[in-house]
Amino acid sequence: MFVQQAIAILDSGVGGLTVCKEVMRQLPREKIIYFGDTARTPYGPRSSEEVRLFTEQIVDFLIQFNPKMIVIACNTATAAALDYIKAKVKIPVIGVIHPGARAAISATKTGKIGVIGTIGTVRSGAYSAALRELNPQIEIVSAACPDFVPFVEKGLYNTPEALSVAQDSLREFKEHPMDCLILGCTHYPFLKKPIQQVMGPKVKLISSADETAREISTVLHQKGSLARGNGVPVHQFFCSGDPDMFRKIARQWLGEQIELTPIVWQVS
Ligand code: SIN
Repeated sequence: MFVQQAIAILDSGVGGLTVCKEVMRQLPREKIIYFGDTARTPYGPRSSEEVRLFTEQIVDFLIQFNPKMIVIACNTATAAALDYIKAKVKIPVIGVIHPGARAAISATKTGKIGVIGTIGTVRSGAYSAALRELNPQIEIVSAACPDFVPFVEKGLYNTPEALSVAQDSLREFKEHPMDCLILGCTHYPFLKKPIQQVMGPKVKLISSADETAREISTVLHQKGSLARGNGVPVHQFFCSGDPDMFRKIARQWLGEQIELTPIVWQVS
């Protein structure tokens, strides 16, 4: 029997669904296997050693499905573990930081870019390094927004409180000159509307999801492993925390019911 090889996507929780949605839009023939580590979210305040360990554990889980590539759809995990995972597995592995940085460089007109992310991502300096590698003249201002991920994971992104959370987190940051703002956490597109409202219409918000989906397409094309045929793929989702919350957020964000299997980690 022919078994379609999937693209494996992982995140600390529901944030990677923003990448999933773009993959479903740009590459509708591709099957996705998604893991959201909702029991251990947020990754942002954790040490990079711990995030690397969690990422490795998820990759070990996903690899049993024989995926054709792995997408680390979590900025914190990309910063902490991308190189480590790339060296560990034999299939292509991509993260979300370089795609986001590329999108911002092509969008900026003033050369002044803002980056918001988790404490872990901002502390790693991974965006600044990726942006400067592309253009050493670029001016970057960054801020951590630790309240955003727990807010999104609780499914509160469509509530009136979302605007106050964005206002409180961005009050000083929004005064810096910038024409682009990288949403350096895959959870943040859930808060795109209030973030845009706070930053104002002149600041273009950059989500790495679109660019990451394009990079997935390029990698699979180069390897000759893009899905063929007209079959509709059946995606599989796994989460380590509350399945009802995950199902609800996935249905709202993806606009469809998902096939979800809860996983209980043996956490020491
Ligand atoms: C987190 O779990 O704190 C963040 C996810 C991300 O960095 O994209």
